[in-house]
Amino acid sequence: MNMDKTRKDFPVLNKIIYLDSACMSLKPIQVIEKINEYYKDYPGCGGRGVHSISKKVDEECLNARKQIQKLLNIKNEEQIVFTKNTTEALNLVYNSLKFKKVITTDKEHNSNLVPVLRLKKEKGIKHDIIFGNKDNTFNLEEFQDKIKDTQLVSMVHTSNLDGTTIPAKEIIKIAHENNSLVMLDGAQSAPHKEIDLKKMDVDLFACSGHKMLGPTGIGMLYGKEEVLEKLDPFILGGETVTNSTYESYTLEKIPNRFEAGLQHYAGIIGLGEACNYLRKVGMENITNQEIKVNKIIDDGLRNIDGINIIGPSDVRLRPGITSFTYKNKDVHQIALLLDHSKKIMMRSGQHCVHSWFNNHNLKGSVRASLYLYNNEDDAHKLVDGLKDVIKVIG
Ligand code: ALA
Repeated sequence: MNMDKTRKDFPVLNKIIYLDSACMSLKPIQVIEKINEYYKDYPGCGGRGVHSISKKVDEECLNARKQIQKLLNIKNEEQIVFTKNTTEALNLVYNSLKFKKVITTDKEHNSNLVPVLRLKKEKGIKHDIIFGNKDNTFNLEEFQDKIKDTQLVSMVHTSNLDGTTIPAKEIIKIAHENNSLVMLDGAQSAPHKEIDLKKMDVDLFACSGHKMLGPTGIGMLYGKEEVLEKLDPFILGGETVTNSTYESYTLEKIPNRFEAGLQHYAGIIGLGEACNYLRKVGMENITNQEIKVNKIIDDGLRNIDGINIIGPSDVRLRPGITSFTYKNKDVHQIALLLDHSKKIMMRSGQHCVHSWFNNHNLKGSVRASLYLYNNEDDAHKLVDGLKDVIKVIG
């Protein structure tokens, strides 16, 4: 990977040290230009018009689907449903699929926990949680014990809290042997590792554009055709039906029946370009770069008295993330000081995984989250910067 060339695609890196890609990735100029191209050259509506600008939008949106299809190895581009983000994709499933019992991990983002809690309260569904091992990795034995009579296994693929990835292959195999569907929250995995949805055999998979070099406000739900066919769309409107009378309507095919109303065309087209960019760089190269940089952060932080890193000690098990606490100091104060004195941007708090922090009696963590544009220098600056901050806060 040519780091100098890569970093030039993200001009804001001249001004800041950006370590918050788990929340929001930066966008390369290629993606920004593609979004601008839509607004400048063919700012029309897709799916409806017969005029040439509308047709161009259709063509570009189809091309974007094909780029996503290639990156994630999806059989048919019709298996991609555009949503606002991962949260909306997960909620689409929770509002459309009928099931009686769901299993999640203990590290679900609120977007994969709160809808479950509501279904539990309102519809009486059963919810089992697989609590992690001591080092926060997945407990496969416990999963095996709890899988019986489950219709949906819905889990965070890579955790935004500590960067660990669950053993999806084994989980999917066990779930399928027990006639359960598997949905993965891929918000943190799709941007950082090689994903082959065909090979994985996962039933449903959600991810967000804004974490994978794409624009905000666009994400997607992937589904096996037979699973998407089973979902009952919960938002209906323009382009979701082929016909309607005063009494009835006929639903469109998948994925159109789930994509109600005018879409975020610039977002879709920008996401397609982001997938193209990622594929050119190579997902394996991205993971390796993250491990290299994260190792420096991990080594440096472990030498500081009072730092506690969440998750396994081997950074290869959490390539893009180092989430830590320092004594019982306020995590926001640490993040603020690093920003104000060193221009280092990191997220602090509970990262929308309040349940895990509450269960561990922790107020939050400071989280360094990496991406393809982070280099060794960023890692050294964080370690040195943190040492300086600690001199101030004690
Ligand atoms: N889920 C995002 C994060 O971890 C917002 O920061």
